[in-house]
Amino acid sequence: MKTKSDFEREKELAAKEAVKLIGDNMIVGLGTGSTAYYAIMEIGQRVKEGLKIKAVPTSEETEKLAASLNIELIDIKTVDAIDLTIDGADEFTSELMMIKGGGGALFREKIVLSLTKKKIIISDSSKKVEMLGKFKVPVEVVPFAANYVLKQIASKGGSSELRMKDGREFLTDQENYIIDADFGLIDDPKTLSTLLNGIEGVLAHGLFIELADQIIMGDGDTAIVFEK
Ligand code: 5RP
Repeated sequence: MKTKSDFEREKELAAKEAVKLIGDNMIVGLGTGSTAYYAIMEIGQRVKEGLKIKAVPTSEETEKLAASLNIELIDIKTVDAIDLTIDGADEFTSELMMIKGGGGALFREKIVLSLTKKKIIISDSSKKVEMLGKFKVPVEVVPFAANYVLKQIASKGGSSELRMKDGREFLTDQENYIIDADFGLIDDPKTLSTLLNGIEGVLAHGLFIELADQIIMGDGDTAIVFEK
């Protein structure tokens, strides 16, 4: 059985493989989480060695890390397109469907990936599933609408709870709440995505469909690539 440190090595392996795809003068989207961390560290190393890029972070945490590594940052409001983004996932299938948002950065991650020409997801081998849904679907909501959205999810057959941290509501970088929604195993992610998008007060949800071009998964000493 693989240990936590095996999975850490797989994350790092996948991250290093993905960073090889970055070239000079690219605008690069930087994901959030413990897998994206390895990619950002590797990019920092390449910047130190002379790589010239501009980066768009998907969270305040990533922004701080990138700045500490002297990676030049660019405001997303000034960007028409992003050349390549590297981000992690909480679950994915070989059809490149994903659940993201375990770290709470799903809203910015979705916008950054949507603006990106080459969308690269990196992962260890624990995240690959046959069907999405063991991991609850994070849903970012305007705080005012949180109770309403909880009720709407229940009326559509899901169970859900408000994400808490240190005894109070977890706040996203946009100061919104996250609801973690459980619909069991999801046989039709597209329909569920449409349903969640249709609830007033929902800003974004963690079902990412058609938002990956390639998923690079570390598996032992090998990087396995899933693509369209
Ligand atoms: C954050 C995300 C992350 O990509 C996802 O949670 C995976 O994180 P980790 O690499 O730490 O397992 O979507 O919002």
